[in-house]
Amino acid sequence: MSKSKTVKDYIRTIVDFPHEGIMFRDVTTLFADPRGFRMAVDQMLHPYAGQRIDKVVGLEARGFILGGAIAHQLGTGFVPVRKKGKLPGATISQEYKLEYGEAIVELHKDAIQPGEKILLVDDLLATGGTAGAGIKLIEKLGGEIISCAFIIDLPELGGRKHLEDLGMDVHVLCE
Ligand code: PRP
Ligand code: ADE
Repeated sequence: MSKSKTVKDYIRTIVDFPHEGIMFRDVTTLFADPRGFRMAVDQMLHPYAGQRIDKVVGLEARGFILGGAIAHQLGTGFVPVRKKGKLPGATISQEYKLEYGEAIVELHKDAIQPGEKILLVDDLLATGGTAGAGIKLIEKLGGEIISCAFIIDLPELGGRKHLEDLGMDVHVLCE
């Protein structure tokens, strides 16, 4: 009997994208498969059964796809953290470093109320720069981050340790 597929089996690797030396972990193949996508969303939700979560915050861009599905399943609101210049209302901003570059992310000032319980979601944790910036933005507005959930962790880049050093609970589906 053939072994059933895991979430990791649906993820494809593209070598040298977007720059030479980067092994790009491409989750579009996971999202495109109905079993794979459902499995990823269900497994990401699993650790939070019975916990109070008021809002899911997703990091642009792949965190929107997962975060939307997770928020729908939990019956919570969804809030996007976007790259600079994309959100139309009044925002707060945070600079951060990437595995391959630098950027600024933003959050609407009125998107989170003090004391709200937040689940932060993205597809992949590399250096932790993006998630770290998202955490700072949420905490600036007084949100309480219950946990940070990712499909993939790249352990050699230290993102998980970076977030745990910030006091975060971190859940990943695969490395
Ligand atoms: C990727 C990924 C994470 C981030 C992880 O997004 O989806 O958001 O990088 O890297 P880090 O842990 O080193 O910060 P990317 O910046 O490629 O943006 P995109 O999803 O908008 O393409
Ligand atoms: N974001 C940062 N590093 C990445 C990688 N290796 N694959 C996909 N997304 C990434």
